[in-house]
Amino acid sequence: SECLNVNNEGHLTIGGCDTLELAKEFGTPLYVLDETTIRNVCKAYVKSFEKYYHGNGMPLYASKALSCKELCRIAKEEGLGLDVVSGGEIYTAVQAGFPMEKVHFHGNNKTADEIRFALESNVGKFVVDNLYELELLNEICGEMGKKANISFRIKPGVDAHTHNFIRTGQIDSKFGFALETGEAFEAVKKAQMYDNVNLTELHCHIGSQIFDIDPFVTAAEIMLDFMGKIHDELGIVISELNLGGGFGIMYTKDDEPVPYENYMEKVSEAVKAKAKEHGLPVPYIFIEPGRSIVGEAGITLYKVGGKKEIPNVRTYVSVDGGMTDNIRYALYQSAYTVVNAGKADKEPDEIVTVAGKCCESGDLVQEHTKVAKVEVGDTLAVLSTGAYNYSMASNYNRIPRPAIVMVKDGKARIVVKRESYEDIVKNDI
Ligand code: LLP
Repeated sequence: SECLNVNNEGHLTIGGCDTLELAKEFGTPLYVLDETTIRNVCKAYVKSFEKYYHGNGMPLYASKALSCKELCRIAKEEGLGLDVVSGGEIYTAVQAGFPMEKVHFHGNNKTADEIRFALESNVGKFVVDNLYELELLNEICGEMGKKANISFRIKPGVDAHTHNFIRTGQIDSKFGFALETGEAFEAVKKAQMYDNVNLTELHCHIGSQIFDIDPFVTAAEIMLDFMGKIHDELGIVISELNLGGGFGIMYTKDDEPVPYENYMEKVSEAVKAKAKEHGLPVPYIFIEPGRSIVGEAGITLYKVGGKKEIPNVRTYVSVDGGMTDNIRYALYQSAYTVVNAGKADKEPDEIVTVAGKCCESGDLVQEHTKVAKVEVGDTLAVLSTGAYNYSMASNYNRIPRPAIVMVKDGKARIVVKRESYEDIVKNDI
């Protein structure tokens, strides 16, 4: 990522800050985010909507990638909306002063309490996942004297080739209404019979960490065809279309992210062509990137506390964090680039397995990765940890979650405090 550099002392820097200094000042493990990178990605997304959709659309930040007040504030300032998936993410947005009409509420099992809270908070759109939810939402709206703008999450049946756990567009998915069985069409009809909901949008999301443009184009075409069918057979024009997130980012040099402009160009062409074919106005378009907004902007810093050589097998290097701050290797065998932060000018020459400190053999950050010779006391940086690291962190072994520091132009500030032991026991009776 462009925010990373190496200074005269051979130390890795992020946003103009020396990572060894950051580790010293704020302690480890430490999440560090570069504000400029985040804002630049946001700006690029916003700008692309002017170019490819004449401003007739909006990017939403998928806050599941990293939800905290500061990220909500940045998204707000950059003109993005927000995709939230829980009462907690809604609460975070409210607390950050986010314009709630630009918030879309997702999830395949929104509870009645969450729905009430979302309505009280004036969340702009409910992305309805199933008929039970539709009924529940209509009922709660009735009790509260509210009307909700809704979208339907549709399974377009597109198989994006990414990790099994993060694929969502295929037929066997817990998310959304199926197209091929007619379920989605029935739902659209049903929505017309409920007084307290107003169906304005259709939504699809085909998966995450995707590198090809084709599945996005196919999904967009399938959605437009469905909108055409709805228009032809029911006389209903659905005016908004949400095409989800999922743009892949660079974790190692083997990853080749799709240039976003190409994505926008290809997808917008498909949307316009299909709208024309069906005699529909070009819908207002939403996208929901999460990973690509914060992923490459973030790194995690650890201190090495031990080194263990298993002859002819591997060398373990133990760090002061692990699966509690980054569960992605344990969960998906995700590849990461590890840098010896104090020797960032040296060629990587040692193959090590970076292990966490949890009581669990699978607590590994990365296996057989090449770094500049590691010694106890060194600081390791794991790159591209901005997305789905803090947001999936846990207190396993009662380990406090690390702080998040935001850097910008050589200055650093805490945006999420490190958890204390008091925090750990605060709900214990
Ligand atoms: N919209 C919907 C409906 C989603 O389900 C997701 C991600 C996004 C947008 C954002 O996708 P992104 O642009 O971030 O790829 N924990 C996994 C990723 C799970 C993604 C879940 N949904 C990981 O660590 O890779």
